[in-house]
Amino acid sequence: MSTTAQSCTPQGAAKAMFDELDTFIDSLGIDKKSNRRKGDLIRILHQAQTIFGYLPEEVQIHVANRLSIHHSEVSGVISFYNYFTTEPKGKCHVAVCMGTACFVKGADKILAEFEKELGIKAGQVTEDMEFSIDIVRCIGACGLAPVVTVGEKVYGRLNVADVKTILSQYKSEVKA
Ligand code: FES
Repeated sequence: MSTTAQSCTPQGAAKAMFDELDTFIDSLGIDKKSNRRKGDLIRILHQAQTIFGYLPEEVQIHVANRLSIHHSEVSGVISFYNYFTTEPKGKCHVAVCMGTACFVKGADKILAEFEKELGIKAGQVTEDMEFSIDIVRCIGACGLAPVVTVGEKVYGRLNVADVKTILSQYKSEVKA
């Protein structure tokens, strides 16, 4: 069993965030001896990602300790589901849909243009933490393919030239 995360000083994640996560875990009334607790793991990780924005190792260990399971079980679930990320996201998070409808309409070129403009690859965040890029599967807006979201906003029927225009709006917001 791993050492307890509570003994460490949280780095990059405020204690208040751990407290919020603990409150959520407590609310589930988990029996540490029951195998059913593993069924709550996804719910907990979902909540943890909502709170922290991503799932760094210290959060994974904390969750493992709270459920009395091994860290590898937590990291295994995280790597199985695309939704979970162990990397921090930027203030402006770009999600490029690479589902079939978007792919056949050139999503790979759109992705390449975002990567070129931001100087990072999918799964990475810019040094100033302002932008990040991820690849996602179909987001259910295939009629608008190829589709990209930036934060909550959806952009459809994109071509490569639109990428610069979209980013310039956010870059000026970031500077403002
Ligand atoms: S494949 Fe991209 S929205 Fe469906």
